[in-house]
Amino acid sequence: MRNQNIVPYVYVNQYINISLPSYSSLNAVGGWIYITGGSKGIIVYRQSFDQFSAYDRHCTYNANDPCGKASVDSTNSFVECSCDGSQYQLYDGLVIQGPALYSLKPYQTTFDPLTNQLHIFN
Ligand code: FES
Repeated sequence: MRNQNIVPYVYVNQYINISLPSYSSLNAVGGWIYITGGSKGIIVYRQSFDQFSAYDRHCTYNANDPCGKASVDSTNSFVECSCDGSQYQLYDGLVIQGPALYSLKPYQTTFDPLTNQLHIFN
């Protein structure tokens, strides 16, 4: 379930070059990275050769709670918010386990394999 109104709108328009060493974890499918931006930071995940997901770390449950910043778990398999235990899929930010009802807020991505530039925007 997606609801974009819980997490505040923040203008996002970033290009990252995944050839750079700081983004090396995105070189392989299944890799992910935190970047700054959005409301509480953004998780970028590589779904396939040319498909990426990007979503805000701002937890959608009790979104006004200052502790509600979601992080990738220690086994790199899902995203969790330690405040009340909500869990989300690393692949796309959809809810795995409540109390959250809504997915992490998605951003759009386009990838140019010729230049290795990934555009993240809303
Ligand atoms: S603020 Fe994230 S689960 Fe409560």
